[in-house]
Amino acid sequence: MKVSDGVRRTLPRRPRPHRWLCAILLLSTLKLQGCFGTPDPWTYSITPTGETLIATTPVIYLQQVHFGTDDGRFVALHQQNGTEQWIHKTGGRIRSSPTVFENILYFGSDDGYLYALNARGGKEMWRFQANGSVSSTPTVNDRLNRLFFGADNGVMYGLHIQAGQLEWSYQTGGPISSSVAMSQNIRQDQIYFGSDDGFVYALRESDGLLMWRFDTSGPVRTTAAVDHDLVLVGSGSGKFYGIQERGGVEVWHFDAKAAIYTSAAVHRGFVFFGCDNGMMYALQETTGEKVWEYNSFSQIRSSIAPAIDAGLIYFGTEQGILYALSDLTGEKAWEFISGGPIQAAAVWYYSMIYFGSDKMYRISSKGRLE
Ligand SMILES: *[C@@H]1O[C@H](CO)[C@@H](O)[C@H](O)[C@H]1NC(C)=O
Ligand SMILES: *[C@@H]1O[C@H](CO)[C@@H](O)[C@H](O)[C@H]1NC(C)=O
Repeated sequence: MKVSDGVRRTLPRRPRPHRWLCAILLLSTLKLQGCFGTPDPWTYSITPTGETLIATTPVIYLQQVHFGTDDGRFVALHQQNGTEQWIHKTGGRIRSSPTVFENILYFGSDDGYLYALNARGGKEMWRFQANGSVSSTPTVNDRLNRLFFGADNGVMYGLHIQAGQLEWSYQTGGPISSSVAMSQNIRQDQIYFGSDDGFVYALRESDGLLMWRFDTSGPVRTTAAVDHDLVLVGSGSGKFYGIQERGGVEVWHFDAKAAIYTSAAVHRGFVFFGCDNGMMYALQETTGEKVWEYNSFSQIRSSIAPAIDAGLIYFGTEQGILYALSDLTGEKAWEFISGGPIQAAAVWYYSMIYFGSDKMYRISSKGRLE
Protein backbone atom coordinates (compact mmCIF):
# COMPACT_ATOMS: atom_id res chain seq x y z
CA MET A 1 0.00 0.00 0.00
CA LYS A 2 2.74 2.36 0.94
CA VAL A 3 4.75 1.89 -2.21
CA SER A 4 8.27 3.20 -2.20
CA ASP A 5 9.46 4.62 -5.49
CA GLY A 6 12.91 3.19 -4.79
CA VAL A 7 14.61 6.58 -4.89
CA ARG A 8 16.94 7.19 -1.97
CA ARG A 9 18.96 10.27 -1.47
CA THR A 10 22.27 9.94 0.19
CA LEU A 11 22.98 12.46 2.88
CA PRO A 12 25.26 15.23 1.71
CA ARG A 13 28.47 15.46 3.68
CA ARG A 14 28.67 18.39 5.98
CA PRO A 15 31.89 20.35 6.18
CA ARG A 16 33.53 19.43 9.49
CA PRO A 17 34.04 22.28 11.92
CA HIS A 18 37.11 22.14 14.13
CA ARG A 19 36.88 19.64 16.94
CA TRP A 20 37.49 22.19 19.69
CA LEU A 21 34.65 24.31 18.38
CA CYS A 22 32.39 21.25 18.63
CA ALA A 23 33.49 20.62 22.18
CA ILE A 24 32.83 24.22 23.25
CA LEU A 25 29.44 24.22 21.53
CA LEU A 26 28.53 20.91 23.14
CA LEU A 27 29.54 22.11 26.59
CA SER A 28 27.66 25.36 26.24
CA THR A 29 24.50 23.60 25.03
CA LEU A 30 24.62 21.20 27.96
CA LYS A 31 25.04 24.11 30.31
CA LEU A 32 22.21 26.08 28.70
CA GLN A 33 19.95 23.06 28.78
CA GLY A 34 20.79 22.53 32.42
CA CYS A 35 19.93 26.13 33.29
CA PHE A 36 16.94 26.91 31.10
CA GLY A 37 15.67 23.56 29.86
CA THR A 38 16.21 24.58 26.21
CA PRO A 39 14.85 21.75 24.06
CA ASP A 40 17.53 19.87 22.14
CA PRO A 41 17.00 17.87 18.98
CA TRP A 42 17.70 14.13 19.00
CA THR A 43 17.27 11.02 16.86
CA TYR A 44 16.44 7.46 17.83
CA SER A 45 17.26 4.37 15.72
CA ILE A 46 15.49 1.08 16.21
CA THR A 47 18.36 -0.88 14.70
CA PRO A 48 21.98 0.27 14.43
CA THR A 49 21.76 0.23 10.61
CA GLY A 50 18.55 2.24 10.54
CA GLU A 51 16.93 -0.18 8.09
CA THR A 52 13.69 -0.49 10.04
CA LEU A 53 11.27 2.20 9.06
CA ILE A 54 8.98 4.21 11.26
CA ALA A 55 5.83 4.84 9.22
CA THR A 56 3.55 6.13 11.97
CA THR A 57 2.85 9.58 13.37
CA PRO A 58 4.07 9.87 16.97
CA VAL A 59 1.81 10.82 19.84
CA ILE A 60 3.37 13.01 22.52
CA TYR A 61 1.82 12.41 25.91
CA LEU A 62 3.06 12.31 29.54
CA GLN A 63 6.42 13.69 28.31
CA GLN A 64 6.83 10.61 26.13
CA VAL A 65 6.96 10.13 22.36
CA HIS A 66 4.92 7.04 21.34
CA PHE A 67 5.01 5.34 17.93
CA GLY A 68 4.98 1.98 16.14
CA THR A 69 7.69 0.59 13.86
CA ASP A 70 7.91 -1.65 10.80
CA ASP A 71 9.44 -4.47 12.89
CA GLY A 72 6.36 -4.65 15.11
CA ARG A 73 7.60 -2.77 18.13
CA PHE A 74 5.62 -0.10 19.88
CA VAL A 75 8.05 2.33 21.50
CA ALA A 76 7.85 5.04 24.17
CA LEU A 77 10.79 7.48 24.37
CA HIS A 78 11.54 10.24 26.81
CA GLN A 79 10.48 13.47 25.11
CA GLN A 80 13.52 15.48 26.32
CA ASN A 81 16.34 13.19 25.28
CA GLY A 82 14.90 10.29 23.25
CA THR A 83 15.85 7.57 25.73
CA GLU A 84 13.73 4.40 25.73
CA GLN A 85 11.08 4.24 28.43
CA TRP A 86 9.33 1.03 27.42
CA ILE A 87 8.69 -1.21 24.37
CA HIS A 88 5.73 -3.46 23.60
CA LYS A 89 6.18 -6.12 20.90
CA THR A 90 3.41 -7.09 18.45
CA GLY A 91 3.41 -9.86 15.84
CA GLY A 92 3.39 -7.68 12.71
CA ARG A 93 4.35 -4.40 11.11
CA ILE A 94 2.79 -1.34 12.75
CA ARG A 95 1.45 1.16 10.23
CA SER A 96 -1.38 2.41 12.40
CA SER A 97 -0.51 5.59 14.27
CA PRO A 98 -1.51 5.63 17.93
CA THR A 99 -4.42 7.54 19.44
CA VAL A 100 -4.44 8.44 23.12
CA PHE A 101 -7.47 8.76 25.34
CA GLU A 102 -7.51 8.95 29.15
CA ASN A 103 -4.05 7.46 29.66
CA ILE A 104 -4.54 4.60 27.18
CA LEU A 105 -2.83 4.31 23.79
CA TYR A 106 -4.74 2.58 20.99
CA PHE A 107 -3.17 1.30 17.75
CA GLY A 108 -3.36 -1.62 15.34
CA SER A 109 -0.80 -4.05 13.96
CA ASP A 110 -0.47 -6.21 10.85
CA ASP A 111 -0.80 -9.19 13.25
CA GLY A 112 -4.56 -8.52 13.15
CA TYR A 113 -4.98 -7.06 16.62
CA LEU A 114 -5.99 -3.70 17.94
CA TYR A 115 -4.03 -2.96 21.14
CA ALA A 116 -4.86 -0.86 24.19
CA LEU A 117 -1.76 -0.06 26.31
CA ASN A 118 -1.38 2.01 29.43
CA ALA A 119 0.79 5.01 28.49
CA ARG A 120 2.46 4.78 31.93
CA GLY A 121 4.67 1.74 31.60
CA GLY A 122 3.09 0.15 28.52
CA LYS A 123 0.98 -2.51 30.24
CA GLU A 124 -1.50 -4.19 27.86
CA MET A 125 -5.09 -3.50 28.98
CA TRP A 126 -6.77 -5.53 26.25
CA ARG A 127 -6.43 -6.53 22.62
CA PHE A 128 -9.11 -7.14 20.02
CA GLN A 129 -8.78 -9.61 17.14
CA ALA A 130 -9.92 -8.04 13.88
CA ASN A 131 -9.27 -10.93 11.45
CA GLY A 132 -7.21 -8.67 9.19
CA SER A 133 -4.20 -6.35 9.38
CA VAL A 134 -5.06 -3.12 11.13
CA SER A 135 -3.26 -0.21 9.47
CA SER A 136 -5.94 2.36 10.15
CA THR A 137 -5.47 4.71 13.09
CA PRO A 138 -8.24 4.31 15.70
CA THR A 139 -10.60 7.23 16.30
CA VAL A 140 -12.22 7.88 19.67
CA ASN A 141 -15.68 9.25 20.29
CA ASP A 142 -15.66 10.14 24.00
CA ARG A 143 -19.37 11.01 24.01
CA LEU A 144 -20.27 7.43 23.05
CA ASN A 145 -17.25 5.81 24.75
CA ARG A 146 -16.47 4.23 21.43
CA LEU A 147 -13.44 3.47 19.30
CA PHE A 148 -13.63 3.11 15.50
CA PHE A 149 -11.10 1.46 13.21
CA GLY A 150 -11.00 -0.49 9.92
CA ALA A 151 -9.06 -3.57 8.85
CA ASP A 152 -7.74 -5.22 5.68
CA ASN A 153 -10.71 -7.63 5.71
CA GLY A 154 -12.90 -4.66 4.73
CA VAL A 155 -14.66 -4.38 8.07
CA MET A 156 -15.21 -1.17 10.04
CA TYR A 157 -15.42 -1.89 13.77
CA GLY A 158 -17.08 0.06 16.57
CA LEU A 159 -15.77 -1.07 19.99
CA HIS A 160 -16.58 -0.14 23.56
CA ILE A 161 -13.48 1.78 24.52
CA GLN A 162 -12.93 0.57 28.09
CA ALA A 163 -13.91 -3.06 27.63
CA GLY A 164 -12.59 -3.54 24.10
CA GLN A 165 -15.83 -5.29 23.14
CA LEU A 166 -17.48 -5.25 19.74
CA GLU A 167 -20.60 -3.07 19.55
CA TRP A 168 -21.12 -3.15 15.80
CA SER A 169 -19.29 -3.87 12.54
CA TYR A 170 -19.86 -2.94 8.91
CA GLN A 171 -18.53 -4.87 5.89
CA THR A 172 -17.28 -2.87 2.88
CA GLY A 173 -16.10 -4.29 -0.45
CA GLY A 174 -12.34 -3.75 0.01
CA PRO A 175 -9.55 -3.34 2.56
CA ILE A 176 -9.84 -0.31 4.85
CA SER A 177 -6.69 1.64 5.62
CA SER A 178 -8.31 5.03 6.08
CA SER A 179 -9.27 6.22 9.54
CA VAL A 180 -12.60 7.52 10.69
CA ALA A 181 -13.35 11.23 10.50
CA MET A 182 -16.14 12.50 12.71
CA SER A 183 -18.68 15.20 12.10
CA GLN A 184 -18.01 18.53 13.85
CA ASN A 185 -21.76 18.82 14.15
CA ILE A 186 -22.97 16.81 17.18
CA ARG A 187 -26.48 16.46 15.73
CA GLN A 188 -25.08 14.80 12.61
CA ASP A 189 -24.21 11.49 14.45
CA GLN A 190 -22.13 10.26 11.50
CA ILE A 191 -18.65 8.88 10.86
CA TYR A 192 -16.82 8.99 7.51
CA PHE A 193 -14.13 6.77 6.04
CA GLY A 194 -12.99 5.25 2.75
CA SER A 195 -12.38 1.76 1.41
CA ASP A 196 -10.35 0.20 -1.40
CA ASP A 197 -13.71 -0.56 -3.05
CA GLY A 198 -13.72 3.10 -4.16
CA PHE A 199 -16.44 4.41 -1.86
CA VAL A 200 -16.52 7.01 0.86
CA TYR A 201 -18.91 5.76 3.56
CA ALA A 202 -21.09 7.61 6.04
CA LEU A 203 -22.33 5.37 8.87
CA ARG A 204 -24.48 6.21 11.85
CA GLU A 205 -22.15 6.37 14.87
CA SER A 206 -24.52 4.72 17.31
CA ASP A 207 -25.23 1.48 15.41
CA GLY A 208 -23.18 1.44 12.18
CA LEU A 209 -26.15 1.86 9.86
CA LEU A 210 -25.25 3.02 6.31
CA MET A 211 -26.43 6.60 5.73
CA TRP A 212 -24.88 7.07 2.27
CA ARG A 213 -21.86 6.11 0.21
CA PHE A 214 -20.11 8.07 -2.51
CA ASP A 215 -18.32 6.49 -5.49
CA THR A 216 -14.87 7.99 -6.24
CA SER A 217 -13.87 5.29 -8.81
CA GLY A 218 -10.54 4.75 -7.05
CA PRO A 219 -9.30 3.35 -3.72
CA VAL A 220 -9.91 5.68 -0.79
CA ARG A 221 -7.02 4.91 1.57
CA THR A 222 -6.72 8.13 3.48
CA THR A 223 -8.65 10.01 6.08
CA ALA A 224 -11.13 12.75 5.32
CA ALA A 225 -11.24 16.17 6.93
CA VAL A 226 -14.65 17.43 7.96
CA ASP A 227 -15.37 21.16 8.07
CA HIS A 228 -18.21 23.53 7.12
CA ASP A 229 -20.58 20.55 6.64
CA LEU A 230 -18.24 19.14 3.97
CA VAL A 231 -16.39 15.82 3.89
CA LEU A 232 -13.06 16.59 2.18
CA VAL A 233 -11.29 13.52 0.84
CA GLY A 234 -8.92 12.35 -1.90
CA SER A 235 -9.01 9.19 -3.99
CA GLY A 236 -6.59 6.92 -5.83
CA SER A 237 -8.49 8.01 -8.96
CA GLY A 238 -6.66 11.35 -8.72
CA LYS A 239 -9.69 13.39 -7.74
CA PHE A 240 -10.21 15.28 -4.52
CA TYR A 241 -13.81 15.83 -3.38
CA GLY A 242 -15.90 18.14 -1.26
CA ILE A 243 -19.01 16.08 -0.33
CA GLN A 244 -22.03 17.29 1.63
CA GLU A 245 -22.26 15.65 5.07
CA ARG A 246 -26.03 15.44 4.74
CA GLY A 247 -26.94 13.15 1.87
CA GLY A 248 -23.44 12.62 0.44
CA VAL A 249 -23.87 14.89 -2.59
CA GLU A 250 -20.79 16.25 -4.39
CA VAL A 251 -20.31 20.00 -3.93
CA TRP A 252 -17.03 20.27 -5.83
CA HIS A 253 -14.10 18.22 -7.04
CA PHE A 254 -10.53 18.99 -8.06
CA ASP A 255 -8.71 16.79 -10.56
CA ALA A 256 -5.07 16.36 -9.51
CA LYS A 257 -4.55 13.75 -12.27
CA ALA A 258 -2.39 11.61 -9.97
CA ALA A 259 -3.32 9.23 -7.14
CA ILE A 260 -4.00 10.90 -3.80
CA TYR A 261 -2.82 8.78 -0.87
CA THR A 262 -2.39 11.47 1.76
CA SER A 263 -5.04 12.42 4.28
CA ALA A 264 -6.71 15.79 3.95
CA ALA A 265 -5.88 18.48 6.49
CA VAL A 266 -7.83 21.68 7.01
CA HIS A 267 -6.04 24.77 8.28
CA ARG A 268 -7.03 28.47 8.08
CA GLY A 269 -9.77 27.89 5.49
CA PHE A 270 -7.62 25.83 3.14
CA VAL A 271 -7.53 22.10 2.60
CA PHE A 272 -4.08 20.59 1.97
CA PHE A 273 -3.13 17.26 0.41
CA GLY A 274 -0.22 15.69 -1.44
CA CYS A 275 -0.13 13.53 -4.56
CA ASP A 276 1.81 10.73 -6.19
CA ASN A 277 2.98 13.23 -8.85
CA GLY A 278 4.96 15.13 -6.20
CA MET A 279 2.55 18.04 -5.86
CA MET A 280 1.31 19.50 -2.58
CA TYR A 281 -1.93 21.41 -3.12
CA ALA A 282 -3.77 24.06 -1.13
CA LEU A 283 -7.43 24.54 -2.13
CA GLN A 284 -10.17 26.79 -0.79
CA GLU A 285 -12.11 24.35 1.35
CA THR A 286 -15.59 25.62 0.44
CA THR A 287 -15.09 25.93 -3.35
CA GLY A 288 -12.18 23.64 -4.25
CA GLU A 289 -10.43 26.51 -6.01
CA LYS A 290 -6.66 26.08 -6.15
CA VAL A 291 -4.74 28.58 -4.02
CA TRP A 292 -1.23 27.27 -4.66
CA GLU A 293 0.72 24.16 -5.56
CA TYR A 294 4.27 23.11 -4.73
CA ASN A 295 6.27 20.51 -6.66
CA SER A 296 8.49 18.33 -4.44
CA PHE A 297 9.49 16.06 -7.37
CA SER A 298 8.87 12.99 -5.21
CA GLN A 299 5.84 10.89 -4.32
CA ILE A 300 4.02 12.34 -1.29
CA ARG A 301 2.47 9.83 1.12
CA SER A 302 2.54 11.88 4.31
CA SER A 303 -0.18 14.39 5.10
CA ILE A 304 0.64 17.84 6.39
CA ALA A 305 1.17 18.97 9.96
CA PRO A 306 0.31 22.59 10.65
CA ALA A 307 2.48 24.64 12.99
CA ILE A 308 0.59 26.64 15.52
CA ASP A 309 2.74 29.75 15.59
CA ALA A 310 4.76 30.09 12.44
CA GLY A 311 2.30 30.04 9.51
CA LEU A 312 4.06 26.97 8.16
CA ILE A 313 2.95 23.48 7.16
CA TYR A 314 5.21 20.44 7.20
CA PHE A 315 5.16 17.27 5.10
CA GLY A 316 7.59 14.58 4.03
CA THR A 317 8.25 12.72 0.79
CA GLU A 318 9.27 9.21 -0.32
CA GLN A 319 12.75 10.67 -0.97
CA GLY A 320 13.00 11.42 2.73
CA ILE A 321 12.84 15.20 2.62
CA LEU A 322 10.78 17.08 5.17
CA TYR A 323 9.51 20.40 3.76
CA ALA A 324 8.32 23.50 5.59
CA LEU A 325 6.13 25.70 3.37
CA SER A 326 4.23 28.90 4.05
CA ASP A 327 0.59 27.91 4.50
CA LEU A 328 -0.63 31.03 2.65
CA THR A 329 1.69 31.04 -0.37
CA GLY A 330 3.34 27.61 -0.58
CA GLU A 331 6.77 29.24 -0.54
CA LYS A 332 9.49 27.00 0.87
CA ALA A 333 10.94 28.09 4.23
CA TRP A 334 13.39 25.20 4.61
CA GLU A 335 13.92 21.50 3.96
CA PHE A 336 15.49 18.77 6.06
CA ILE A 337 16.96 15.60 4.57
CA SER A 338 16.32 12.41 6.55
CA GLY A 339 17.72 8.94 5.83
CA GLY A 340 14.55 7.15 4.62
CA PRO A 341 11.08 7.64 3.15
CA ILE A 342 8.66 9.73 5.23
CA GLN A 343 5.28 7.99 5.12
CA ALA A 344 3.40 9.49 8.05
CA ALA A 345 2.67 13.03 9.11
CA ALA A 346 5.06 14.96 11.34
CA VAL A 347 3.96 16.50 14.62
CA TRP A 348 4.65 20.07 15.67
CA TYR A 349 4.81 20.32 19.46
CA TYR A 350 6.10 23.32 21.40
CA SER A 351 8.46 24.54 18.67
CA MET A 352 9.93 21.12 17.94
CA ILE A 353 9.01 18.79 15.07
CA TYR A 354 8.78 15.03 15.52
CA PHE A 355 8.59 12.60 12.61
CA GLY A 356 9.45 9.04 11.62
CA SER A 357 11.64 7.86 8.73
CA ASP A 358 14.74 5.63 9.08
CA LYS A 359 14.78 6.98 12.65
CA MET A 360 12.51 8.95 14.93
CA TYR A 361 13.61 12.57 14.59
CA ARG A 362 13.07 15.52 16.86
CA ILE A 363 14.30 18.63 15.05
CA SER A 364 13.97 22.33 15.74
CA SER A 365 11.20 24.30 14.02
CA LYS A 366 13.96 25.91 11.95
CA GLY A 367 14.61 22.45 10.48
CA ARG A 368 17.88 21.76 12.29
CA LEU A 369 19.33 18.83 14.13
CA GLU A 370 21.75 20.88 16.22
C1 LIG B 1 16.38 12.08 30.03
O1 LIG B 1 15.66 13.15 30.65
C2 LIG B 1 15.00 12.76 31.87
C3 LIG B 1 14.20 13.99 32.35
O2 LIG B 1 14.95 15.16 32.30
C4 LIG B 1 16.00 12.28 32.88
O3 LIG B 1 15.33 11.86 34.05
C5 LIG B 1 16.83 11.13 32.30
O4 LIG B 1 17.82 10.74 33.21
C6 LIG B 1 17.44 11.54 30.98
N1 LIG B 1 18.15 10.40 30.43
C7 LIG B 1 19.39 10.50 29.92
C8 LIG B 1 19.99 9.25 29.41
O5 LIG B 1 19.97 11.57 29.87
C1 LIG C 1 -12.86 -13.72 13.21
O1 LIG C 1 -13.01 -14.97 12.56
C2 LIG C 1 -13.50 -16.00 13.40
C3 LIG C 1 -13.49 -17.29 12.61
O2 LIG C 1 -14.01 -17.12 11.33
C4 LIG C 1 -14.91 -15.61 13.90
O3 LIG C 1 -15.39 -16.59 14.76
C5 LIG C 1 -14.84 -14.27 14.62
O4 LIG C 1 -16.12 -13.84 14.99
C6 LIG C 1 -14.20 -13.22 13.74
N1 LIG C 1 -14.01 -12.00 14.52
C7 LIG C 1 -14.32 -10.79 14.06
C8 LIG C 1 -14.09 -9.69 15.01
O5 LIG C 1 -14.74 -10.56 12.94
